[in-house]
Amino acid sequence: MKIAPSILTADFTKLKKELETIETADYIHVDIMDGNFVPNISFGPAITKQISQNTKNLLDIHLMVLDPLKWIDGFTFSNTEYITVHYESNNLDETIKKIKQNKVKVGISIKPETDKEVLLPYLKDIDLVLVMSVEPGFGGQKFMASSLDKMQYFSELKKKNNYNYEIEVDGGVNLETGLLCAKNGATILVAGSYLFNMEDRKKGIEGLACLK
Ligand code: DX5
Ligand code: ZN
Repeated sequence: MKIAPSILTADFTKLKKELETIETADYIHVDIMDGNFVPNISFGPAITKQISQNTKNLLDIHLMVLDPLKWIDGFTFSNTEYITVHYESNNLDETIKKIKQNKVKVGISIKPETDKEVLLPYLKDIDLVLVMSVEPGFGGQKFMASSLDKMQYFSELKKKNNYNYEIEVDGGVNLETGLLCAKNGATILVAGSYLFNMEDRKKGIEGLACLK
């Protein structure tokens, strides 16, 4: 299992130190919120640039914004591995094209209420499906078990068609819910409050990484 700690819950007054505590993870999950697509604002390209310059980890950027197209360049750094956009946001096709032009891997996410089938036409061309297991907008929410069925669905389609995407889960992930995700085909776990509320984050990452 690959692990992507969500930096949203970190203490930003000591960002560099916080980044060091999670350096054994596979990716840093970076949540971008515009106050329109979700009822919250996080931070933008300038802070993300500082994150990018102060970590050796690859970045997994999660854009919860209404118009992702105009933000793709701003979040394309040398260590940006994935940019994930929401199916529910504007200009999806053009945005995917732009992410590919920037030589970044493409992720698409769906909110909890969105039908999983809407992603069918995209699956053969993308690198990551992000299943939201909470309503996007805030860290620290409770895991929604209804997301498990979606993971299983994308996992079966992947096997059947030999697709290449990762199946990432975001929201309310801890050791217990992470195990359920693993059993249902998840390949990357995002964890925010669970890891950042821990004294020993290295151990926390190891624990999640062992799940299968
Ligand atoms: C929610 C964000 C998540 C969030 C996860 O909108 O996309 O990445 O930071 O936080 P936890 O793990 O605390 O649910
Ligand atoms: Zn996220």
